[in-house]
Amino acid sequence: MDARKNPFAPGAGTQPPELAGRSGTVTDAEVAIARAKGGLSSKSQLLLGLRGVGKTVLLNRVAEIAQAERCLTVSLEAPEANRLAEMLVPPLRSALFKLSGTEKAKLAAQKTLGVLRSFAAAFKVKVGDVEFGVRPETGTADSGQLEFDLAELLQAVGAAAREDASAFVLLIDEVQYLGSQDLAALIVAVHRVGQKGLPFVLFGAGLPQLAALAGDAKSYAERLFDYPDVGPLTREAAVDAIRAPVRRQGVEIDDQALDLVIETTKGYPYFLQEWGYQTWNVATASPIGAADARLATRGAIERLDRGFFRVRFDRLTPKEKHYMRAMASLGPGPHRSGDIAHALKRPVSSVAPLRGGLLTKGMIYSPQHGDTAFTVPMFDEFMKRTMPGWEP
Ligand SMILES: Nc1ncnc2c1ncn2[C@@H]1O[C@H](COP(=O)(O)OP(=O)(O)O)[C@@H](O)[C@H]1O
Ligand SMILES: [Mg+2]
Repeated sequence: MDARKNPFAPGAGTQPPELAGRSGTVTDAEVAIARAKGGLSSKSQLLLGLRGVGKTVLLNRVAEIAQAERCLTVSLEAPEANRLAEMLVPPLRSALFKLSGTEKAKLAAQKTLGVLRSFAAAFKVKVGDVEFGVRPETGTADSGQLEFDLAELLQAVGAAAREDASAFVLLIDEVQYLGSQDLAALIVAVHRVGQKGLPFVLFGAGLPQLAALAGDAKSYAERLFDYPDVGPLTREAAVDAIRAPVRRQGVEIDDQALDLVIETTKGYPYFLQEWGYQTWNVATASPIGAADARLATRGAIERLDRGFFRVRFDRLTPKEKHYMRAMASLGPGPHRSGDIAHALKRPVSSVAPLRGGLLTKGMIYSPQHGDTAFTVPMFDEFMKRTMPGWEP
């Protein structure tokens, strides 16, 4: 079919042509935002799932809802090895500048900008040449203790949002990359702002290990958040993800082709986009059939091997590659740590640091104690293709 009309959107955080199977999660987010806005208690949410399941896309959708509701909305992504304070200050500053409702709201925003300025100074956040245009609020959020100051800062922002008859919605992607102190401070802040009854909701997204990281940082995190599970799509949703965009272009795809795509991708959103994309391009006429889907599989895997899988592989040290390859030799997983060590012909204790490093990099996670699994679906097959003939 005409590649110029290909509706599919494989990529990181790229809006899919059809946000299939997520209406429940989106509705829950809508409810949480509406409750916060209405001055009712509202639970923050941490969306958990593997790479490529659509967490970023969901966060973007929630941000749109928050903006449409005129909430004070701040979105950020936790990069590896960066401080929360550094990431938070610039977008928060812009959001506060935009807060322009009543006189009361403007005054509250001014005051909060002063708090933000104190906070930025206390944590030596370089804001370049940007000006706050306000005097610092000395004595608020500037003790230098992040757990304390972040809570004060977020409270001030929540209070400003309340003056504007809205809510403060903070969205943080890749939360698992936050350092343990930052994560602990964030949890404390969410807790405090909630206790004060201020209109605030945090939507975070991260790899599955985030639940354990949050619990380790503060044991009450378990009760503080909802943890929506973002997984592969159900069959029905996967059908929608492929068929709806195709139909909107006036093209049909038959059931056999759909079965093949769903079976191969196991309903993982990123793979559905990739297979949809390739299948569309190889097909020459409507309806798209099973032969097209089969032909597309080769191209799709090649593209994944060069892109989605490859970028992750390239971040591994040689030793880490061996660890991951040993895991792959055991199948898709999860695997017992002992079995992986055994496949490497090494004692468990000697590979523990390697495993720890891979966890931090977000390459693997532990679905439950002693188990290890890939954070990218189908990574085992990729490792075998990339390191054929591997031996420990
Ligand atoms: N519900 C969905 N239905 C169809 N495709 C989706 C859905 N959610 C995400 N995608 C697609 O999956 C890919 C990965 O999405 P992304 O949000 O980057 O995942 P994650 O943040 O979990 O790694 C993108 O190409 C996106 O368009
Ligand atoms: Mg993402």
